[in-house]
Amino acid sequence: GAGAGGCPVDHSRLDPTGRPVSADAAAFDPFGEAYLRDPAGALRWARDQEPVFYSPELGYWVVTRYEDVKAVFRDNITFSPSIALEKITPFSDEANAVLKAHGYAMDRTLVNEDEPAHMLRRRALQEPFTPEKLAHHEPIVRRLVREHVDRFVDAGRADLVAEMLYEVPLTVALHFLGVPEEDMATLRRYSVAHTVNTWGRPSPEEQVAVAESVGRFWQYSGEVLEKMRQDPSMPGWMPYGIRLQPEMPDVITDSYLHSMMMAGIVAAHETTALATTNALRLLLENRAQWEEICADQGLIPAAVEECLRFSGPIVAWRRIATADTEIGGVPIPEGAKLLIVQASANHDERHFDDPDELDIRRDNAGRHLSFGYGSHQCLGKHLARMEMQIILEEFTTRLPHMRLVPDQEFTYLPNTSFRGPEHLWVEWDPERNPERADP
Ligand code: HEM
Repeated sequence: GAGAGGCPVDHSRLDPTGRPVSADAAAFDPFGEAYLRDPAGALRWARDQEPVFYSPELGYWVVTRYEDVKAVFRDNITFSPSIALEKITPFSDEANAVLKAHGYAMDRTLVNEDEPAHMLRRRALQEPFTPEKLAHHEPIVRRLVREHVDRFVDAGRADLVAEMLYEVPLTVALHFLGVPEEDMATLRRYSVAHTVNTWGRPSPEEQVAVAESVGRFWQYSGEVLEKMRQDPSMPGWMPYGIRLQPEMPDVITDSYLHSMMMAGIVAAHETTALATTNALRLLLENRAQWEEICADQGLIPAAVEECLRFSGPIVAWRRIATADTEIGGVPIPEGAKLLIVQASANHDERHFDDPDELDIRRDNAGRHLSFGYGSHQCLGKHLARMEMQIILEEFTTRLPHMRLVPDQEFTYLPNTSFRGPEHLWVEWDPERNPERADP
């Protein structure tokens, strides 16, 4: 403690506006177990006492209430998304040298692009995401899901992440992007490195390994893009962009295409894989509601929305203030970096009644912020919902009697933003499979 003897002021205890940082704010650890296990619970104190606070650990302002998180998403001019994919943990010189050796130059895509470039690009590229255009993916998704379930349906026990929830959304993502089949296996290997690179806290030794994978991912993405350029008539969202490039070279730049080739895989894959894992876990933990959707599959779309609210795969996103402003009455200086925590917003009792109860009949579940909000709102939301619904339809039909393996430890990749258990063990009695009982 500072005595009367004029101890120097401890600047780590002051926020950038010179106000003291509370003990709770100083203790907040976005890479710690409490946040990884239950981000909304770990920030309950903040929603109640200090809804916008400065975290010295992170160097970010943390925004926790529903209305404030939504207001930040809504104003993408005052709160620029340009830092959305910046490394949250700066790399060592050695790791940066590895990236440089690979020519790594990840740049703006959509999610981190400012206006007016963002809207021009989004409008030019959005058509393949409409429900009508996505309809032809549906049979592909269903076939993939069925083939995967076939492999373990008689086993009686499976880690659903390892057996299908990782691979199916990745395959769908690569199909959607238009990646040739022969490149899929290679791209699969790299995608985890990107999450750690962007939202994790790797040690200096880990950083070098992560940089090596990310660098190779970048180079390989460039090679796949070159292949697409040879034959831009191929199906998929990336060839669609390549075909538009001659008409609008300033909007669809080379740098955009290369960056999106890499970022698009993560945007479409990790998100949906984690979302489905979280949803299956939640529904099986709330058995009565699982049984309701088994009895009436018409409830599945609502169940998907409630699971996205309760346990979305992206728990926090980032913005940077472009001017002096305020959030919920708290002064925020220009240049302030913000961690806006959707998981906390989605459990804000000021907006959702009994937010910590899963309720597939909740009438405002669809107001969750898991897909963001406003002009950057997730373009892939219809694709993600379709995948989640089909996966739930197939499980409720073929393995309605499955249950979580009791007492399993759920583990998470330490990072601020992408959340879902690394394994999900379920078990069932294959003798009771409906397909056998009723051939
Ligand atoms: C943007 C979440 C699946 C493509 C975003 C954003 C979030 C998000 C939070 C930023 C929104 C904002 O800044 O307001 C999710 C979740 C998913 C999912 C939770 C799965 C459950 C997908 C899929 C694709 C996709 C399958 C397909 C390619 C995109 C794109 C953007 C985006 C292109 C940038 C949009 C823009 O800035 O204009 N997503 N996403 N996402 N997502 Fe998703």
